[in-house]
Amino acid sequence: MSNALENPSDRKAYVVTGPTSGIGRATAFELAKYGTVVLVGRDPGKLEEMRELIAQKGQHAVSVVCDLSDLASVRRAAAEIIALHLPIAGLLNNAGMMQPRARNALGWDMTFATNHLGPFALTEALVPHLADGANVVFVGSGTEDPARRPATAVGFRGGRYISAEASARGEWVPGGSAIPGGDAYATSKQCNIVTAMAFARETPRLHFNAVEPGFNPTTGLGQRDANVLLRFLVKYIIPLLVPLLMPFMKILSTSKRAARVISKILTDISGQSGIYYDEGGQPMPGSTFVRDPKFQDRVVAETRALLATVPI
Ligand SMILES: NC(=O)c1ccc[n+]([C@@H]2O[C@H](COP(=O)([O-])OP(=O)(O)OC[C@H]3O[C@@H](n4cnc5c(N)ncnc54)[C@H](OP(=O)(O)O)[C@@H]3O)[C@@H](O)[C@H]2O)c1
Repeated sequence: MSNALENPSDRKAYVVTGPTSGIGRATAFELAKYGTVVLVGRDPGKLEEMRELIAQKGQHAVSVVCDLSDLASVRRAAAEIIALHLPIAGLLNNAGMMQPRARNALGWDMTFATNHLGPFALTEALVPHLADGANVVFVGSGTEDPARRPATAVGFRGGRYISAEASARGEWVPGGSAIPGGDAYATSKQCNIVTAMAFARETPRLHFNAVEPGFNPTTGLGQRDANVLLRFLVKYIIPLLVPLLMPFMKILSTSKRAARVISKILTDISGQSGIYYDEGGQPMPGSTFVRDPKFQDRVVAETRALLATVPI
């Protein structure tokens, strides 16, 4: 645990994307107990608010502005993080969203760009600067698995990957989900998990894992387009119900619980790598796609090729 009197630059550092809401916010607070937190987010005002809340507890955080849907912003943020010269012990790729039909400045599917391409580029830029034994965690989602009951029951049809280029164009294997943006979301989350698995094999000096954080109904993820009544329920009623329902619904979770599970993986020194953890921190198999090393390598190679087309 950190000591407020230490020199912050001597402490371990943990980079967290999406620390301004939901699971990322709870995890940033949890990780601040272990070292300096590098808060990576797109909204300077929210980042500053988080930094101050952490400082008020006698802990330390620094902010780096980064829009993960924008490769130029990701590259600038990576350079800024490297220039901090902090001993980075962990990187959490947590930021994620589901924004149907939206496109980034390159015309790429916004959800795929934000959830997969941005975090992939950020990780590739930081990897050479991470100390041996550092942990990298990608937050995946059970929606990637076409055989996972709770996800299919609400209308997801699993990852629908054709190629990285096709995903950027917003094209998915036909016959997918009727949920607007559902195929983009599930495919991007599948890509997060296979990236962790492929990187674990490629770079054994570091540890790459993925986690399915459970169903967290009170985070910002499902609320962005919700009406006032739903937002009221999510803010005031559902938080009271979740702890009561958790013993009966294995996948139901809270940001605090997800934060504890994720922080345990990020601060783990046992050297586990290439594992996909469930909401309780136990290994889970995931879909046949995420278990297939050929598919993992194909996604990584195609993602690298796509990102290489964007001039620096
Ligand atoms: N909630 C669930 O049930 C659930 C289940 C499975 C997986 N997950 C995954 O868990 C992760 C966290 O989600 P959450 O539920 O905590 O959602 P959330 O409350 O909406 O938090 C998402 C975070 O990502 C950030 N973000 C979104 N777009 C960004 C961009 N373009 N650049 C930089 N940051 C961006 C948001 O920043 P702003 O504050 O600026 O919007 C926010 O900090 C996601 O990867 C999600 O896919 C969630």
